[in-house]
Amino acid sequence: MSKWRGMGLLWVGLAIGCGGDEAGSNDADAADTQDTAAEVQDGDATDTTPPEDTRLDVTDTATPPDATDVAPDVDDIGDVSLDIADTTQDTEDAQDTEDTADTAPLDTADTEPADTEPADTTPEDTADTTPEDTADTTVEDTTPVDTTPVNRPPTVALALSPTGPILPGQTTTLTATVSDPDGDLLDLDFVQLSPANPLGSFVTVANNKVTWTAPELATATTFEFSLSVSDGVNDAVVKTGSIQVTIPTFANDIQPIFSNNCTGCHGGSGGLFLTAGQAYTNLVNVTGNNGACSTLKRILPGSPNDSLLVRKISGTTCGDRMPRSDPSFFANNPGLITRIRSWVAAGALNN
Ligand code: HEC
Repeated sequence: MSKWRGMGLLWVGLAIGCGGDEAGSNDADAADTQDTAAEVQDGDATDTTPPEDTRLDVTDTATPPDATDVAPDVDDIGDVSLDIADTTQDTEDAQDTEDTADTAPLDTADTEPADTEPADTTPEDTADTTPEDTADTTVEDTTPVDTTPVNRPPTVALALSPTGPILPGQTTTLTATVSDPDGDLLDLDFVQLSPANPLGSFVTVANNKVTWTAPELATATTFEFSLSVSDGVNDAVVKTGSIQVTIPTFANDIQPIFSNNCTGCHGGSGGLFLTAGQAYTNLVNVTGNNGACSTLKRILPGSPNDSLLVRKISGTTCGDRMPRSDPSFFANNPGLITRIRSWVAAGALNN
C-alpha cells in the first residue's frame, strides 16, 4: 500500500477539463469572462474553493489586452501567450480558439493582412456577443443557487509495466495518471486487492508511481490491484489492474542463474555440478556433503527452507554463503532467491 499527495498534473487537467466544455462558441467564450469573475467572487466569499480560483486569477492577469477576450484563453492554458498575440490584432474569437492549438504563430504572420479586412466581423462579434452574454450571465448571477460551482471527481488511469506475466521476485511498475478538473489536491492509494495472501511488496518511486515485487509462490497466481484516488470531496475514483505471476521453469529461469554465477566452481567443487544437463540430477533429492547441514537434501521438492542449496544462497547457516566468490550477490538480488524458492516450493520440476 502506498499513499501520497501530489498535484503535478492537476493544472494541465484543469485546462483540458474546461476547454472541452466550451470550445468553439462565441457565447461560451464571452460567458467565460462572466463565469470566471463569478467563481472568483464566490470563492472569495466562501473561501471553500481555494486552488483553482487563485490560478484563474493568475492567468487572467497574464493576459491584459482585451478584457472580453481573456476568458477563452484561460481554457487553453498551454497557449496563453499565443492567444495574446492574436487577440491584440483581431477579435475572431471562435476561429482563434481552435487555431491557437496548432498554428497560432503561423496565423499571426500569414493572416495579418487578411485579418485587417473584416472590419465588419469585428464590430458584429463584439456587438452581438457582449450585450447578449452580459444579459444572460447577469440573470444567472442573480440566481445564486445555479452559479454555485459543482466539484467534479478526478480523472484516473492505472497502467502496469511490464504487464506480465512475470516471475516470483520480479517487479512491475504501477503508474497512475490523474487529473482533477477543479485542481483539488489528490490522495492516491495503491492496494493489492487479491489474493489476500501472499502479499507482494510495494515501494514508492514517485508521487504517482509504485513498484510491486511478486512474492514467493507455489502455484501460478493472478494478482489484482486497485488504485483509489480521492479529491477529498467526491467518492474516491477506483481503477483496477492485474498481473499474472507464473512458476519458474528449470531450463529457462533457474539453470541460467547457475550458469552465470556458479559453474566457475561447481564443475565439481564441493562434489557438486551445476552445469547445464547435470545440475538437476545433482540437486533434486540428493543428500549434500555439507558438514554443517549434511542431513539436508540439496533440493527437497516442496520445501525451500529444508533445501541445502537455498540455505547456501540465503546466509551462513550451512557454512559459507554462495556464490563463494561474491557472497553478497543474492543479498543484492533478492528476487533471484524468491525465484529459486518458488521453483522448489512448486515441486522443483525438471521443465
Ligand atoms: C568461488 C567458487 C564457488 C562459487 C562461485 C560457488 N561455489 Fe558453491 N561451493 C564452493 C565450495 C568450495 C563448496 C564446498 C564448501 C561449502 O560447502 O561451503 C561449495 C558448496 C556449495 C554447496 C553445498 C554442496 C554440498 O553438497 O555440500 C552448494 C549447494 C553450493 N555450493 C551452491 C552454489 C551455488 C548455487 C552457487 C552459485 C550461485 C555457488 N555455489 C557458487 C565454491 C563455490
